[in-house]
Amino acid sequence: MSISVNQQAKVFHLQTAHSSYIFHVMANGDLGQLYFGRKIHVKDHYDNLAKRERREAMVAWGKDFDDFQPDNLKTEYAAFGRGDFRDPAYQIAAENGSRISELAYAGYHIEDGKARLSELPSAFSQPSEGVQTLTIDLADPLTGLQASLHYSVFEQEDVIVRSTTFSNLSDNKIILRRAMSAQLDLPDSRFQMISFAGSWARERQEVKNALKPGIQSVGSLRTASSHQENPFIMLARPETSEDTGDVFAFNLIYSGNFLDQVEVNHYDLTRVLIGIHPEEFAWTLDPNESFQTPEAVLSFSKQGFNQLSQQLTNFYANHLVNPRFAKQPRPILVNNWEATYFDFNEDKLLAIAKKAAELGIELFVLDDGWFGHRDDDHTSLGDWFVDKKKLPQGLPHLADAVHGLGLKFGLWFEPEMISMASELYKKHPDWLIVSPKRQPIAGRNQYVLDFTRNEIVDTVFQMMAQRIEESHLDYVKWDMNRYITDMFGSQLPADRQLEMAHRYILGVYHLYQRLIDRFPDVLFESCASGGGRFDLGMMYYAPQAWTSDNTDALSRIQIQYGTSYGYAPSMMGAHVSDVPNYQTGRITPLSTRGRVAYFGDLGYELDITKLSEKEQQEIKKQVAFYKRHRQLFQFGTFYRLQSPFAGDKNVASWEVVNADRTLAIAARYQFLNRPNPAYLRLYFMGLSPDRLYRINGSEETFFGDELEDAGYAVDQILDINQPMTASADFSAHLFIAQAVE
Ligand code: DGJ
Repeated sequence: MSISVNQQAKVFHLQTAHSSYIFHVMANGDLGQLYFGRKIHVKDHYDNLAKRERREAMVAWGKDFDDFQPDNLKTEYAAFGRGDFRDPAYQIAAENGSRISELAYAGYHIEDGKARLSELPSAFSQPSEGVQTLTIDLADPLTGLQASLHYSVFEQEDVIVRSTTFSNLSDNKIILRRAMSAQLDLPDSRFQMISFAGSWARERQEVKNALKPGIQSVGSLRTASSHQENPFIMLARPETSEDTGDVFAFNLIYSGNFLDQVEVNHYDLTRVLIGIHPEEFAWTLDPNESFQTPEAVLSFSKQGFNQLSQQLTNFYANHLVNPRFAKQPRPILVNNWEATYFDFNEDKLLAIAKKAAELGIELFVLDDGWFGHRDDDHTSLGDWFVDKKKLPQGLPHLADAVHGLGLKFGLWFEPEMISMASELYKKHPDWLIVSPKRQPIAGRNQYVLDFTRNEIVDTVFQMMAQRIEESHLDYVKWDMNRYITDMFGSQLPADRQLEMAHRYILGVYHLYQRLIDRFPDVLFESCASGGGRFDLGMMYYAPQAWTSDNTDALSRIQIQYGTSYGYAPSMMGAHVSDVPNYQTGRITPLSTRGRVAYFGDLGYELDITKLSEKEQQEIKKQVAFYKRHRQLFQFGTFYRLQSPFAGDKNVASWEVVNADRTLAIAARYQFLNRPNPAYLRLYFMGLSPDRLYRINGSEETFFGDELEDAGYAVDQILDINQPMTASADFSAHLFIAQAVE
């Protein structure tokens, strides 16, 4: 049993394998948060944790609750306007305009398992997996508002998933002005907040700051989780490292506007709120209507960041990603985008596909430019019909030829978008999102379809379904290349306009679900100008995502390293591309490009027909090597060893280890060469301490504990005839630790 309830004291103790999450019902009927952290014993009550001395100059509840001062308490789901002056978890507007409500405990029930949500991506479990879900019902008899707080306990993975369902049991309408997915109050503020910020082509760079009094937050109002901020954040004790120390993770299974807010109040209490960004949100609940928030993912580790990332990775594989693909080896692909951009014909594509087959590549992806009259990015989005000028024999013909080479075939779409120069726009000029009487703002010369409208989603579905069916597609790359401006719902009444952003994302999810239901064997990869929608909402439908448009190996080390804190390697599309790199102009060795891309879903994105014989042979070897270790690279236990965001930022290393710890591959990357460098060692992690290993087939053997604590000497001598040694610029070395039989 992962949920213990003391019915008398009304204490709820949720236990995962290594953590405890405890709350209780307080004197006034509110829920009080007691503890989240390392697993502790179940007791009848934890009064000591709730103890508060009365303080002067504070708002206090009336004579029955003389000592009850909401501003100095830790609570579970705070209301607005009843004495807690921190930002609340929810807020309403009642028909008379009042924003005040008060949710008091009304009961609880526990169910086995975790059911999927119907309109939102969500965690799930099979009946036999020991997952339990606790629902606490809260009610405000004066307004008729009811809220159910859901807590699903994923014991094995050390994860708790939270969400809230609001219902209107009154005869009047109630407007939800804020409906966060989860609130967590912590007893002090001695934490660093770690978030992942960036922009196009430099996504998810680690940002670390000590908490300060007041509010600090990350969020997005772009109707996408965004390149700029990511919903994944951590709170860690300052001394926490990769393998020791306390750290909390927070993420949201959602792809739209979000807010992760951390507030430190005057008693040094820390409140984390995570959910839909309240700024562009409101939801009208008519009598008997309900609203379901997205789900928040909470996790705690006492063994530092690596442990935390690993438990999240396990959770995603078991309870978030489409089970059809979650543990399936992902194909090695070649994508024609950086090879041809818009300029291709069937011969060119087939030449690439043929070469790909020779090199051992498994999937050919035809990217942007195959439809309408799309010779540049000004036209044709929405016209999901083949461009007969480029592919006169049609898509099925090309698909047959690709399949005939023994390759899978994948196709690019940007389903949510419309170009003004398109047949779709001619027919339906009113289908794009636009604010009345204003000229809509273009992004990459394109506009956004109003996905809150069923007929629009249905039209796009029909076109995509035809393409998928007629060409027997194995893979779809779903791109999204602009953020949404001019947000206005032409079909929504004035008082429901703030529902638009959330309804838009529900439309996106609806289309994904319809396509998956109809084509369960198609692998989806999500993309948003690279990593602009790298979030758990997308991962529920599309098991992998294009991590970044920046394929420069050095940039990718940082991007993949940052991403790895909150996401699994198998979620990261990682391609070897041409040099000089299109985004940075940098020339890195092919070996380095391969050794970075190995630690994700490997692909190639360059004109492989133009490579020298030597380069082709090298790619063939890379592909064969990756296939041999694919399971390890995609699904092994991932360890960050040395951060490119720390120290002199000149070196990075990471490692994957197999389940029985008999095989590990570590990579060490050096950015710039240093003359006469210091002597270096690589410190492995996750090995069996008592086993002997050979490194790269060495004669000498090393104990696991030796490799972890004494380290392995890294060769530093620069041989100018062999410029790619460990100390040359942009070099990458692999260290394969194989256990001795
Ligand atoms: C942006 C994506 O990130 C690229 O990989 C490529 O698909 C282009 N869009 C195509 O327009």
